[in-house]
Amino acid sequence: MAATTRRGWEMIVVLMGPPGAGKGTQAKAICAELQIVHLSTGDLFREAVREGTPLGLEAQTYMNRGELVPDAVTVAMLLERLDRPDASNGALLDGFPRTLPQAEALEEALRARGSRVDLAIYLAVPREVLLSRLSGRWMCRDCSATYHESFNPPTVAEQCDRCGGELFQRPDDRRETAEHRLDVYMEQTVPVIEYYRRKGILVEVNGDQSREAVERALQDALRARRVG
Ligand code: AP5
Repeated sequence: MAATTRRGWEMIVVLMGPPGAGKGTQAKAICAELQIVHLSTGDLFREAVREGTPLGLEAQTYMNRGELVPDAVTVAMLLERLDRPDASNGALLDGFPRTLPQAEALEEALRARGSRVDLAIYLAVPREVLLSRLSGRWMCRDCSATYHESFNPPTVAEQCDRCGGELFQRPDDRRETAEHRLDVYMEQTVPVIEYYRRKGILVEVNGDQSREAVERALQDALRARRVG
């Protein structure tokens, strides 16, 4: 770990919201605006599953049940990824932290580098909307771009507009598992929203609007906080 010889993690933005809130959909525009890298713990786990690594095999059992992967495994994976050179400008953390121990571990690791979370964004969307988004979602196997069969269909069925990769439906988007993920979110992740609210760095954005309207609201929020 070259923390003492690098500039460190310069800007850290946390993107929060329940499953299906639109975190992955909005992440690209935020990263382009802030010139930081997009780190999604869900994407990192799915990549490990695809590659069949020991981490992937462990994570898969939790993901398929709609449960969270244990904190120790998740924190170690995220911090290792954050230490790579492409994150030296900072990062947008999508789907992390999701428990209070993860939030505390992140804070401690950042403090050790003279850094901190600059902003936590919470995308708020009602439960019924989330379930309909998850059941119609398609995802690219190669670049993780997301589509929705009604709200944002690809130009060619089952093919990614961005890279031509094959689209698939995530096993954890089945209704029963999606419902359970939302329950887990309420129990374990809502306290993290309050954690950042108490620190005075939380900004709430209405995610129940068109993709374009959400993107504009996010840009306004970044400018208001002068991180954009
Ligand atoms: P992860 O991949 O992070 O899933 P998630 O948080 O449940 O979030 P999603 O990817 O489901 O939703 P999203 O908010 O990105 O929505 P999207 O933009 O795709 O995690 C998966 C699993 O990995 C977890 O269950 C857990 O097991 C494990 N894991 C990950 N992180 C972990 C952690 N920190 N600790 C422990 N375990 C962890 O949009 C959804 C759909 O809606 C798409 O079809 C999209 O096209 C559509 N849509 C988006 N915006 C709009 C809009 N404005 N209007 C209409 N449709 C829209």
